[in-house]
Amino acid sequence: MIRLIKSVHRAVKRRRHFRSGAVRLAQVLPSLAAVCGGPVSVRRGRGGGHDFVYFVEHDGLPAGVLRIANPAYVPEGTPTEARLNGPRLKLTPRERVAREWRLCEAGWRHALTPRPLWRSETGDALLNSYLAGSRLFDCVQAGRISFWDAIERAAERATLFHTLVGEAHMDLSLFNVYADEGMGVLTLIDFELSPNPALSAEEARLFDYLNLVEMAYKEMPVAERRAAPERLERLFAARVPRELHGLSVARLAPKLPRLLSDTAFRAALARHLTV
Ligand SMILES: Nc1ncnc2c1ncn2[C@@H]1O[C@H](COP(=O)(O)OP(=O)(O)O)[C@@H](O)[C@H]1O
Ligand SMILES: [Mg+2]
Repeated sequence: MIRLIKSVHRAVKRRRHFRSGAVRLAQVLPSLAAVCGGPVSVRRGRGGGHDFVYFVEHDGLPAGVLRIANPAYVPEGTPTEARLNGPRLKLTPRERVAREWRLCEAGWRHALTPRPLWRSETGDALLNSYLAGSRLFDCVQAGRISFWDAIERAAERATLFHTLVGEAHMDLSLFNVYADEGMGVLTLIDFELSPNPALSAEEARLFDYLNLVEMAYKEMPVAERRAAPERLERLFAARVPRELHGLSVARLAPKLPRLLSDTAFRAALARHLTV
């Protein structure tokens, strides 16, 4: 019963959310048609984020994924101090689109991100190429890969992203990693947060690996949680670059509540970081 009420509540919220994106959606449709080579249809995306995300189709085939930045979420002009959130800085609508564009421009040639296809003149909306496949989290839920193996694969991708794109993701989780059908290629999506300017580049990169584990923790079955000492050891030995070992988690801690309050996870992290 409670589950039913919750899901009805979610559906109502979702409908209300998308209703406030409808006007802007109608305005950008002609540009999308021009980019896609003809009339397009759109479907609401399933993201739970603040922006309006839609799947765009042309001729019955996927043509891309549209993000319209929600102008009411962190309005333009909001002072930086009011946008700091632990290790992260919340971005204004235009900044969110600009960051997504910049990182996808740098990443798509290496198959690390979708390819950006179009951006509105006012910089509040962008179309990315459509990725066939599913979220890495869904692959885990379907029993195709374990949490820890998925984390390791995503971490490997993050390292490549850091090297080739040159920035940290800052919202890395199994929900924001896409796997193609065969799980051979992993792509990073959703770049709406940036590092708190007080972080060093190394701290920001370290946050990606830790957030990946933090976000998976809540969903992990007990048996996988028990494997944490061994798997975190492996993660640090094989995936987290040496220059990030020994860093302090102090500035990252506000967004790592689960890892830092679980004694086994905390102890495993303390072997490689200043906790
Ligand atoms: N390029 C893409 N190709 C296919 N699906 C995508 C793409 N970008 C986003 N999605 C889907 O839309 C969802 C929401 O997108 P995301 O960028 O993560 O926004 P948010 O989490 O802020 O709502 C993702 O979880 C994913 O399922
Ligand atoms: Mg997301």
